[in-house]
Amino acid sequence: MALTMTTEASKAIQHAATFPVFTPHSDYARSIAGLSAGVLWTTLGILLLVMGLVSYAVHKFREKPGASTPKPVYGNVKLEIAYTLSFIVILGVISVFSIRAMESSDPPTHQENSLLIVAHQWWWEVRYPGTDIVTANEIHIPVNQPQQVGLRSADVIHDFWVPELGRKMDIIPGIENRSWFAADVPGTYLGACAEYCGQEHAWMRIRVIAQTPEDFARWEQEQLVVPATPTDGDAARGAQDFQQLSCASCHTIRGTAANERIGPDLTHVASRQTIAAGRLENTPGNLAKWLLEPDLVKPGCKMPNLHLPREQLNSLVAYLETLK
Ligand code: CUA
Repeated sequence: MALTMTTEASKAIQHAATFPVFTPHSDYARSIAGLSAGVLWTTLGILLLVMGLVSYAVHKFREKPGASTPKPVYGNVKLEIAYTLSFIVILGVISVFSIRAMESSDPPTHQENSLLIVAHQWWWEVRYPGTDIVTANEIHIPVNQPQQVGLRSADVIHDFWVPELGRKMDIIPGIENRSWFAADVPGTYLGACAEYCGQEHAWMRIRVIAQTPEDFARWEQEQLVVPATPTDGDAARGAQDFQQLSCASCHTIRGTAANERIGPDLTHVASRQTIAAGRLENTPGNLAKWLLEPDLVKPGCKMPNLHLPREQLNSLVAYLETLK
């Protein structure tokens, strides 16, 4: 079956802010946006000044008919000292502002992590410490509540970055890094892995869904529910297939024997907006595509092609769709 990305599917990843670094939605991101704007305007000013002086010199001192060859000039000590000093001053000022931005985007007072994020090739595992909630690629948070995030890697170096909400932070195997982010208005904020981590690096998208405290509490309650295993129809057959095929060797579905963390936790997979880390919008059709030909949807991904016969495919989709 040839796979073409439907407009519906691609739409799922397209409503990012045009210049997310310059549209901050938290104090952490605002300090970085301020620094970025300051550096941008300063360097733009220097560029215009230098280009202006070069244009002036080229125009003013160009060769004129009948003029004699000018005497070569080697160096100008005063000029050299002046521009060396001016760069020291400019870089010094930028350093001071950078250090201040680093401090405000990573506060010195640390508390318990409110989130633990584990980066995998090529998706994000999101755990809510103190609860059984584990999601993938979508991070629900309440607005105006700073999140302290522990960042771990399951394999190689990745980098967590949601530009509207906070700073970039590398994720390095073997150590737990820490970062902070927050959102001051409800909405969906897009981010991505920002460190090349292999073939599907570009499809390692993050979606932060910032909600009002009431909506977040409702979401949390829904996620805590252990879904009932369907007892009849396609969905019941799908639940059995899930355990008997190799699905259960990589995934977790709470309330069943599937208890592995190699792939995403699927306990509430149907409640997510996308599948395959933002690659496809989460619809029954796209889920079927993903199960049927994961290697075509996301070449190089670790989800194996099980060569599912049509009937098993339908029942697996029917089952997974019950996991709201
Ligand atoms: Cu993970 Cu790039």
